[in-house]
Amino acid sequence: MYFKSKFNFLLITVSYVYFLTTFVTMTVIVTENETELINKLASILENNSNTSITRDGTFKVGLSGGSVVKFLNEAIPKLKTDLSKWKLFFCDERVVPEDDPESTFGTYKKNLIGKVNLKEDQFVRIKQGVSADEAAKDYVRQMAEYFPGSLLPRFDMLLLGMGPDGHTCSLFPGHQLLNENKVWVAPITDSPKPPPQRVTLTFPVINNARVAVFAIAGEGKADMVKRILVDKEDLPAGRVQPSSGELYWILDKEAARHYSK
Ligand SMILES: *[C@@H]1O[C@H](CO)[C@@H](O)[C@H](O)[C@H]1NC(C)=O
Ligand SMILES: *[C@@H]1O[C@H](CO)[C@@H](O)[C@H](O)[C@H]1NC(C)=O
Repeated sequence: MYFKSKFNFLLITVSYVYFLTTFVTMTVIVTENETELINKLASILENNSNTSITRDGTFKVGLSGGSVVKFLNEAIPKLKTDLSKWKLFFCDERVVPEDDPESTFGTYKKNLIGKVNLKEDQFVRIKQGVSADEAAKDYVRQMAEYFPGSLLPRFDMLLLGMGPDGHTCSLFPGHQLLNENKVWVAPITDSPKPPPQRVTLTFPVINNARVAVFAIAGEGKADMVKRILVDKEDLPAGRVQPSSGELYWILDKEAARHYSK
């Protein structure tokens, strides 16, 4: 019954999430440069990894593509934590072969496997050779094994990026998927950013995370950071508001150019 009532609560809060910001602990961290941003990301990651491993014996983390890949490829090798206890999921993934340069798993594999104590089977990957629709359904089935008994998975941490248009995961401004609340993972076949076929976590899952962390660098993101954090425009990245969790925005100085508290 616990899960049931929690689930109902979330279904209700999802539509009104902007008014419930008091439940979210939000921290904006402005760093001097990208190196400092990566160090900050590493320290949050290490601390939460240790906390989760001590509590549950495992650390369930969602990865993103884009610039987050570069930050994590530099941060993960620095961590003092038991990487063998990690289960790595994808906040979104492109429906392409794993050896395609567009594959998010492919980029992590190339940079991390064989270099740190992470094995391929710790990554929960999308099924190969199927449609986005089938890949999304299959990913839900795979995820369910790691969140037994949950109506909604609760990730220990989601590592998120933000596009210059304000998208996060594969949730794009004005897209109908922003309101998807029936499935954990949705297919998208008309992504405005190529490749068009992807799967993505949906907001009920994202906002059920214990910790959500944005890592954003560069002047190209400065305008969107302001529109979301200062002007409070309703854009996808701004809808990330874990309903009983922590939210971090780690910015470098360039991305924070138009941000002031
Ligand atoms: C470490 O993580 C715990 C649990 O999430 C949190 O309460 C604490 O503030 C964190 N400490 C640091 C230094 O980030
Ligand atoms: C995390 O645990 C490792 C041991 O696995 C320890 O060396 C490290 O200092 C811990 N870090 C934090 C932030 O608790």
